[in-house]
Amino acid sequence: MRKAKIAVIGSSSMDLVVTSKKRPGAGETILGESFKTIPGGKGANQAVAAARLGAEVYMIGCVGDDHYGEAILRNFQNNGVNTEYVEPVTGVESGTAHIILAEGDNSIVVVKGANDYVTPRYINQTAELIESCDLVMIQQEIPEETVEFVAELCKKVEVPLLLNPAPARVISQKVIDCSTYMTPNEHEANVLFDGQAMSHSLRTYPEKLFITEGAAGVRYFNGQEEVLVPSFKVEAVDTTGAGDTFNAAFGTAIAEGKTLTESITFGNRAASLSVTGFGAQGGMPTREEVERMLAE
Ligand code: RIB
Repeated sequence: MRKAKIAVIGSSSMDLVVTSKKRPGAGETILGESFKTIPGGKGANQAVAAARLGAEVYMIGCVGDDHYGEAILRNFQNNGVNTEYVEPVTGVESGTAHIILAEGDNSIVVVKGANDYVTPRYINQTAELIESCDLVMIQQEIPEETVEFVAELCKKVEVPLLLNPAPARVISQKVIDCSTYMTPNEHEANVLFDGQAMSHSLRTYPEKLFITEGAAGVRYFNGQEEVLVPSFKVEAVDTTGAGDTFNAAFGTAIAEGKTLTESITFGNRAASLSVTGFGAQGGMPTREEVERMLAE
């Protein structure tokens, strides 16, 4: 089977993860249990996950000229992600995500740092690579105008675009129209479609809008009916990065020519494995692991 060639345009950050028994309230100080510094960022997570799943992955993004930037680049290389198009920005700090893991869930504050330098101008320099790809994947931890620019570029050069509209923000109709696939979670879908009933949004965008519902699975409209492709039951350790793993696996399978149902199932299987490890990338599975579990 030919490898899927994928460009991931998005954020690369360092995740600063604190685990604690409870989440502090405003004005409260509590004692935590552990602290870890691990590579993350939605774009980087998707790039690493797709590479582990066997795709030929090109990351397009920016890091700072600091220690975190060096560690992020090393992590890409260790995971087989091509970094030719990752630019270290002079005098700027790498993006960071400040994560609290408590009470079985995470809360995250993202400081974009160098990710704000992923501009339309920068993307324009990578147009030739983009044109040669089977799929482009993008998220929303980079400037809004960049997402718009990429959406229009992909439409023009006829390369399918998988938009993961996370974190949530309102986007233009043009971006929606230019995207081939969109994968919001329920909260993001609510923001994206201004509180409209989910079934209405799904019917408006058949085989284009895929709403991820966590442990329940992924819902879409196939032109005739609403379908929920169920997820797999696992003991979750850390759900950070599960959405990124789903996107990477779904995108890889689509780019390889698998059907929508096969691709969603592949995505669900990979995402459910990813939550069994600590950190966004800690539990991301290899191709062999996903295939072995699917065969069981
Ligand atoms: O999707 C998970 C990611 O979101 C984390 O790795 C963190 O960087 C945040 O941006």
